[in-house]
Amino acid sequence: LAPEHKYPAAYEDCLNATQHFLHHLEHYGVDPARVTVCGDSAGGNLAAAVSQTLAGRSDLPKLRAQILLYPGLQALDFNLPSYQQNRGVPLLFRERAAFYVLQYLNGNATNLEEVLEGSHIPIDVKLNYQKWVSPDNIPEKFKVRGYKPRVLLDCTTEVFEKVKRFCEPNLCPLLAEDTVLQQLPESFILTCEYDVLRDDGLLYKKRLEDNGVRVTWCHLEDGFHGIINSFGSDWLSFPSGKRGLDNAINFLKSL
Ligand SMILES: *[C@@H]1O[C@H](CO)[C@@H](O)[C@H](O)[C@H]1NC(C)=O
Ligand SMILES: *[C@@H]1O[C@H](CO)[C@@H](O)[C@H](O)[C@H]1NC(C)=O
Repeated sequence: LAPEHKYPAAYEDCLNATQHFLHHLEHYGVDPARVTVCGDSAGGNLAAAVSQTLAGRSDLPKLRAQILLYPGLQALDFNLPSYQQNRGVPLLFRERAAFYVLQYLNGNATNLEEVLEGSHIPIDVKLNYQKWVSPDNIPEKFKVRGYKPRVLLDCTTEVFEKVKRFCEPNLCPLLAEDTVLQQLPESFILTCEYDVLRDDGLLYKKRLEDNGVRVTWCHLEDGFHGIINSFGSDWLSFPSGKRGLDNAINFLKSL
């Protein structure tokens, strides 16, 4: 776990564990045609990165599917509509989302201000990724709760030097090449309306669909980040969280 163990430690742990499992399926009594990876929040980031890494591998059984529950998938833009609309909505405040990803990358939250205002990535790099990371790729109905377009800020080489690994797909899977995405397995993506990470999920859904990957999408209109964590608790269980989990399970059963 960060900050003691920085990127790519968590990614490598997950990749190593998944590879070990795929190498020893017989030992676990698992059908090689039916292995699915799943993760929520930061775990959704890891599941997405592991799926991408394994997508092109011919020496291991192919994953049957991936299940991404309100995943965090990018760190280029913390001013997308969902980040603006839900900046102060528990359980994941906008500032915390940036704080966590910086802790994962560097083991500290230096440059938090630049990351929040968007002056951590040079303009030419942002323009290069605009085809994938842009409010223009978010359907209009997700902007009605409020969205202010922002001017593109440039950044210093000193700051970019510290955070340039945000451009690595193993850290930000939304930035993987089309040729990688095309090989991904069928996917289930859950997004919540009241979640800063909502637009990460929406943008990844679009990228997968544009690359011919079948996506089952579940959007919880009244959901917030982390809602599935309290599933089954007697005093803090939400109908919406149950609906999300039921949908994920139905997806699994349909495979
Ligand atoms: C994962 O496996 C690679 C190669 O076997 C190794 O270099 C790396 O240290 C492992 N990572 C972790 C976190 O165990
Ligand atoms: C934060 O992490 C960066 C990158 O590892 C490092 O260069 C910098 O010295 C660290 N800052 C502090 C205050 O520890």
